[in-house]
Amino acid sequence: MTRTLNRREFVAVGAATLAGAAVAKPLLGQAPALFVPKGIRPVVIASANGNRFRNGGPVTCVERAFRMMTEGSDVLDSLVAGVNIVELDPEELSVGYGGYPNAEGVVQLDASCMHGPRKRAGAVAALEGVRTPSLVAQRVMEETDHHLLVGRGAQDFARSMGFKIEEDLNTPKSRQLWLEWKRRIDPDHWLDPKKRADAGFRAGLGMVAEGLIDREHFYGTINCSGVNTKGEICGVTTTSGLAWKIPGRVGDSPILGAGLYVEDRVGAAGSTGRGEANLYGLSSFLIVELLRQGRTPKDAGLEALRRIVANTLERRLRDPKGRPNFQVDFYILDAKGDYAGVSMFPSKFAVCTEKGAETLATSSLFPEWPTR
Ligand code: GLY
Repeated sequence: MTRTLNRREFVAVGAATLAGAAVAKPLLGQAPALFVPKGIRPVVIASANGNRFRNGGPVTCVERAFRMMTEGSDVLDSLVAGVNIVELDPEELSVGYGGYPNAEGVVQLDASCMHGPRKRAGAVAALEGVRTPSLVAQRVMEETDHHLLVGRGAQDFARSMGFKIEEDLNTPKSRQLWLEWKRRIDPDHWLDPKKRADAGFRAGLGMVAEGLIDREHFYGTINCSGVNTKGEICGVTTTSGLAWKIPGRVGDSPILGAGLYVEDRVGAAGSTGRGEANLYGLSSFLIVELLRQGRTPKDAGLEALRRIVANTLERRLRDPKGRPNFQVDFYILDAKGDYAGVSMFPSKFAVCTEKGAETLATSSLFPEWPTR
């Protein structure tokens, strides 16, 4: 187990390293000897749904993850146990069981996880029939030499790991909303496949505007990252993805560097919102790289949002003022336990520290949501 080094020990390790020692020798029988800065504040950060859903239990995602982590559980185990609450909650329509289905009415789930200290990662995409894709992603990390399994292969892997495979992950609520969307797109009037796809997207946005779908959840997702008092950093992202997506569409959540990135001793970043924007710019990787260069979590996140604005050229993706017409949020922490939730438009994020769980306003690039 790593512990905080006192100043004399740190100076000794630093001197040995500077003198050309290949690896700092374990101190007092501990290995490896790492510089752990004093004053790390343990924290778990998540999208706002991480402090909203309880799945009938007493605690939210960030509360469970923070408690497990500070009681000594592995950071990633703690975070995954946290997001499992949200994945299993039938009322949460953007993640796991009861998540928005694709255009054919099938719930297809994406998830990824990264273990900072162990430099390991795992992910699944377009997985059907398993309520907790984050746990399958963790098994990919633990049991295989790979980082990403998709579709039928991911499901076969999950079955072989003992996961229950269900015929249908829809709840009555998710099915009813999908049927409403089907009714609106009326494919008989859209012979051109491109126009039909556009109509499907517009029908979805119309349902957001009417309040049938939470605008934060059209693209779904929960991201959750944590750092413990030893400075160990991990993260997990899990989603049902874009509501009524083309079957097989994979968003940013299972792609390392896009919907999640963790670098131990540096920081973590994860995302919710329009996955395509993050896939184009590998935004989570960019944010962690900016943290490494000394930027604060808030500055790094706002810079990633500015890059997304610069990369958004298509008119269909801009509002009348020329701003993106979609939301992207980032949840960021660094190795000291400083954190920030940032977003394109005003939003909320969840955090749990020694003070307890809170839902806070993000720092947004633009002060108001786009006009339509
Ligand atoms: N950010 C979730 C998605 O686009 O699938």
